Amino acid sequence: MKNEARLTLVGAGPGDPDLITIKGIKALAEADVVLYDALISKELLKYAPNALKIFVGKRKGNHRYSQDEINALIIENAFNYGHVVRLKGGDPFIFGRGSEEINYVDNFGIPCTIVPGISSSLAVPANVGIPLTKRKVSESFWVITGCTSNRKLSNDIKIASQTSATLVILMGMHKIKEITSVLQKNNKGDTPIAIIQNGTTQNERIGVGTVNNILEIVSSKKLSSPAIIIIGEVVKESIKLRSFYENIYLNNISAA
Ligand SMILES: C[S@@+](CC[C@H](N)C(=O)[O-])C[C@H]1O[C@@H](n2cnc3c(N)ncnc32)[C@H](O)[C@@H]1O
Repeated sequence: MKNEARLTLVGAGPGDPDLITIKGIKALAEADVVLYDALISKELLKYAPNALKIFVGKRKGNHRYSQDEINALIIENAFNYGHVVRLKGGDPFIFGRGSEEINYVDNFGIPCTIVPGISSSLAVPANVGIPLTKRKVSESFWVITGCTSNRKLSNDIKIASQTSATLVILMGMHKIKEITSVLQKNNKGDTPIAIIQNGTTQNERIGVGTVNNILEIVSSKKLSSPAIIIIGEVVKESIKLRSFYENIYLNNISAA
């Protein structure tokens, strides 16, 4: 007998397969079908040994599934096979379009459960020792998209640049030039900045500097998406990155 149609939206965590939740693993174990994105560690698929696995992300040069196509696949597979797990990077509700998927599925009367995930916006900085808040250094942080749905720089970056908050920018690599120029206009040229590509994975790469020199670092290290940009004094607080800023300070003294 076919299983009852249902959907579980699972946050897979930031990249390291060990950073999924136990609840997420239990959902995968009960899946009939798993629909997974490009940033998902393939190692996680082993937790769904009996499920049909369907890739719905974008591969280099290949067709990208539209949100409409993914919505249709969820419905089709839920009615044909039963329990669909929609495995999404980080947390499904942080720039993940998770709410669009559950709203659509709800129209068909299919029950839906949500399993939160560890967002890359929190885990990627933490993994290199950057505290997004710290007493006497930063009282808040903003998580902002670099690129809005109409491909413009988010106006929130301009507003956040006028505060002392830590900025965590996702999907910002194509706008890095515009981002640094907004910060420079707000006298933040000397502010520490870190760019972390493929955070928490074996391919993690880091570039650190200040707003004034980060473009050179991006180009010399060839940093690109998927990456997180962290801007604020907290970057210097990382014990892993601190020596970089101490060296700048010492070089400045010896140059003076
Ligand atoms: C569509 S958003 C999805 C975010 C996801 N829902 C989350 O909570 O992490 C994709 C963006 O997240 C960031 N991202 C996701 N995983 C990352 C990782 N392991 N390292 C660096 N950035 C990552 C990048 O900015 C990437 O372009």
